[in-house]
Amino acid sequence: MKEKSIALSLESWGIIDSIPGWLSHSAADFSYRIMQAGLFRETPGALVEIGVFKGKYLALIGHASHGQGRYLVGLDGFLAGPNQPLESRWVDSAKSEIESNVRMAEVTALECLILHRTNSNDLSPSLFKAMINDTIAFLSIDAGHEAEDVFNDMRISTELLASNGIIAADDIFNPAVPGVAEGFCAFMSSGMGKKFAPFANCGNKVFLCRAESHGTYIELVREILEEGAEQSEYIEKSLEHINKNASIGFSPKMFGWQVIPLLY
Ligand SMILES: C[S@@+](CC[C@H](N)C(=O)[O-])C[C@H]1O[C@@H](n2cnc3c(N)ncnc32)[C@H](O)[C@@H]1O
Repeated sequence: MKEKSIALSLESWGIIDSIPGWLSHSAADFSYRIMQAGLFRETPGALVEIGVFKGKYLALIGHASHGQGRYLVGLDGFLAGPNQPLESRWVDSAKSEIESNVRMAEVTALECLILHRTNSNDLSPSLFKAMINDTIAFLSIDAGHEAEDVFNDMRISTELLASNGIIAADDIFNPAVPGVAEGFCAFMSSGMGKKFAPFANCGNKVFLCRAESHGTYIELVREILEEGAEQSEYIEKSLEHINKNASIGFSPKMFGWQVIPLLY
């Protein structure tokens, strides 16, 4: 049975948009819709972000899981600049700022919010696993933007993804940070990356799932597009674009997987 696709309310977007950081409305709304779907709601595991900054996307994913009792885990190096750690005396106030930003967005359960100060390049898959201590239902990768950083962050974290879990990989198509595409493509071409499949891209984020869930997520995104076209301009535009593609027999792919493009 088809589900109703639930949009991010303008009120919630207003709150999340007031948090400093990088997130387009379309990426926020699409993430919210996909996390509201029964398929995701039934997927066990924590919500994890590597690269939190002030907590904008962390607040969104926490908000989208409101009432699901999940852990919301953020990892950040708390840097003052590239490779420049913030002085320890400022870290508590930086964490408090994230906590208060996330609190505004009515997240899953604030006592479940865990913030770790760590440079992800210092983590191995086993250290990361010990830190998270759970499977991951939703994983956002948005920390270092050099090729090695992105490759490393995917290497240490993706193994923990639950069976129907989702990865949001940020800035893959951002021309300002070309190393992100390099690191992402290197990971996807490696033996580790072959277990994962991109299924949609929206607002600078590429969404992936485990290879065996690809068909299920393509189906879900199609339902979101059909349901959401009357509610959101970006979905209406995307659907028009996708239908045009279909009429000329073109279906966009990455690494051999069909990817549904959402315009923004
Ligand atoms: C682009 S910002 C993240 C934006 C955030 N996701 C949002 O919603 O606005 C990148 C963050 O990653 C952190 N970072 C960069 N390199 C890192 C590393 N090697 N380990 C951990 N955190 C890192 C930075 O401190 C910064 O807060």
